[in-house]
Amino acid sequence: MDKLIIEGGVRLDGEIRIAGAKNSALPIMAATLLAKSRVVIRNLPHLFDITTMLELLGCMGVQPIVDEKLNVEIDSSTIHSFSAPYELVKTMRASILVLGPLLARYGQAEVALPGGCAIGSRPVDLHINALRSMGADIRVEDGYVRAKVDGRLRGAHLFMDMVTVTGTENVMMAASLAVGKTVIENAAKEPEVIDLAECLIAMGAQIEGHGSDTIVIEGVAELTGCTYSVMPDRIETGTYLIAAAATCGRIKVKDTRPDILEAVLLKLEQAGADIEVGENWIELEMGGRRPQAVSLRTAPYPAFPTDMQAQFTALNTIAMGSGSITETVFENRFMHVHEMSRMGARIKVEGNTVFVDGVDALKGAPVMATDLRASASLIIAGLVAKSQTKVDRIYHIDRGYECIEEKLQLLGAKIRRVPA
Ligand code: UD1
Repeated sequence: MDKLIIEGGVRLDGEIRIAGAKNSALPIMAATLLAKSRVVIRNLPHLFDITTMLELLGCMGVQPIVDEKLNVEIDSSTIHSFSAPYELVKTMRASILVLGPLLARYGQAEVALPGGCAIGSRPVDLHINALRSMGADIRVEDGYVRAKVDGRLRGAHLFMDMVTVTGTENVMMAASLAVGKTVIENAAKEPEVIDLAECLIAMGAQIEGHGSDTIVIEGVAELTGCTYSVMPDRIETGTYLIAAAATCGRIKVKDTRPDILEAVLLKLEQAGADIEVGENWIELEMGGRRPQAVSLRTAPYPAFPTDMQAQFTALNTIAMGSGSITETVFENRFMHVHEMSRMGARIKVEGNTVFVDGVDALKGAPVMATDLRASASLIIAGLVAKSQTKVDRIYHIDRGYECIEEKLQLLGAKIRRVPA
């Protein structure tokens, strides 16, 4: 397995461009199953999860065509299987996103249950209950969600018990081809949900209220192809901003969107960063100052994103003062804490809160990546550590960060990949 070797202590300084959003690209790729003609998706990020979704479409008989700029053309008319096998679902939980589209367009779907994962149990009961309310007959057996519907799904008035991002997306896709009106209450307001809705609208769907907690979808008889460009990745953006802040450095991130990062930018300002933004760029300057520790609480958008808490924990480890970070979205999302304490961080977990007292410096150590965002936080810890850090199991990072070592090298970091 590849490793990343980081010689810490370099102040990051430079410019990078942000890739398309993974969490927007994945549902949009699943949504191509709804269209009766070719969909072209632009600005796909170069990530392992995207390859997994291409593979998943491939094993159903759909042959996506990818060009050298990683634009992908998907014509789902050659589909011959409606099954997402466990081998793929276990590597990418977002595979559940094909459930709604398959059921709505082809009246049947079989998707392996994602099961547990490193950051908690992450059930899909809300997806299943909502689709059942729309007339689907769904059985969970032999580790599979087996779903079918006679004729078309029916629109329904739904209340989601918890805010679920992929749950909202699955239902929104299914409802686009259902008979009649669907109302999703307590819907996720994440920008990626809006991006998917805009793509579905470009395919001919009738959707209103996306971005609010009530989404109304009037089902249509068919959806057609379109060309759609995926929005920038706000989590990648935030991760590089934090890396620059933690190293007391400077960064300009381009091809991004400051308007969807407000909670994160506010916390970076509290940490002492000077931030300037333009329409599609963000510049952060620490001027050599050590960051101040920050406290925060994760919650669904527009509050502080759970996908950024591990990175802020890394920043707090070397900040001035103490900070507490409370995770309210997932249980068990503190796997990075143990690794950081091996690097000399003064850090402890109580319940769903991690308390950190900043230290002057971390010491490099061999550490193990446990999930996608935890991996990013260990890289940030490695960048600020005094000596060498070796990050093992970096396949997690390749799932969600495009060319991470090249981008960090552009910023001056001493980081290299060592093949297994
Ligand atoms: C998505 C994102 C992930 C992000 C998360 C929260 C994608 C591909 N992934 O994950 O990066 O961390 O949103 O912003 O977009 N829940 C249930 N039952 C369900 C569904 C969810 O209990 O049927 C719970 C989950 O266990 C969790 C909470 O709801 O505690 C939120 O999860 P959810 O928003 O569904 O996360 P994902 O969509 O899987």
